[in-house]
Amino acid sequence: MNITFRQLQIFDAVARNLSFTRASEELHLTQPAVSMQIKQLEQSVGLPLFEQLGKKIFLTEAGQEFSRYASAIGSQLDELEQVVDEMKGLQRGRLTIAVASTANYFVPRLLATFCQRHGDVTVSLDVTNREQLLKGLVENRTDLVIMGQPPEDMDLVAERFLENPLVVIAPPDHLLAKEKNIPLHRLLEETFLVREQGSGTRSAVERFFSANQIALSTQMEMSSNEAIKQGVEAGLGLGIVSMHTLEMELALKRLVILDVEKLPIMRNWYIVHRSGKRLSLVAQGFQKFVQEESRQVLKLPSA
Ligand code: PGA
Repeated sequence: MNITFRQLQIFDAVARNLSFTRASEELHLTQPAVSMQIKQLEQSVGLPLFEQLGKKIFLTEAGQEFSRYASAIGSQLDELEQVVDEMKGLQRGRLTIAVASTANYFVPRLLATFCQRHGDVTVSLDVTNREQLLKGLVENRTDLVIMGQPPEDMDLVAERFLENPLVVIAPPDHLLAKEKNIPLHRLLEETFLVREQGSGTRSAVERFFSANQIALSTQMEMSSNEAIKQGVEAGLGLGIVSMHTLEMELALKRLVILDVEKLPIMRNWYIVHRSGKRLSLVAQGFQKFVQEESRQVLKLPSA
């Protein structure tokens, strides 16, 4: 059956009015145009949809079935139009976002404020490592990524929006806990718990110490910030993590930040998408919100 939406609309008007004249007025068409469309529709269907008795027209049995479906399709289309209108107004839509594991300490707060304002936004949040983040961008599986310094050899659009200071953490009873301006080389005497290969924090720490010609003792590798903080609390060694991860431990005085010369290591957060990607209105809205308001919404914990 080869029929068009337009034919269905015309059929629906004739069926509701049970008159070719009134249908053509409603549709701003001539009556012969309406009759022609109905004739073609009946030919495609292979059955008459209307019958004429005297001066009146009636729906045939096939016409009644057709009428039911035509009005259901009409209301589905109206609904679709509403959904699209709402999406244009940003009230409804889907946001697919992937973030580096350290960013997971603040991104849910940004999402909460954004979603409160924009009602019916559905969020899919993936927390993963740098390698997977970049893969997601290449394969176009994500709208936006929040990560540390993005690579320069990929075709990306990246906007910096927030500082990410990395600090040395210790248990409160550590020998160095009360020292001021601890020399960098003093850290050579300590054992460090470090993040896994592929972590942005890990590579920033490595770059910083190699630039300062210090080879830290880093036998212990852990694949999450939580594991590092727990290990440091338990006395396994010192750690270097983002300030964003420390809100609870500092408030509860479970960990302290050591005052080490040249630290914190200053890193930044970027909101990134593939260049040329057509961002949805919701994604554009979130990107703008992050750039303009993340500093007000997020406060770094104080040492
Ligand atoms: P992470 O942090 O990969 O160490 O979790 C992201 C970054 O700082 O790049």
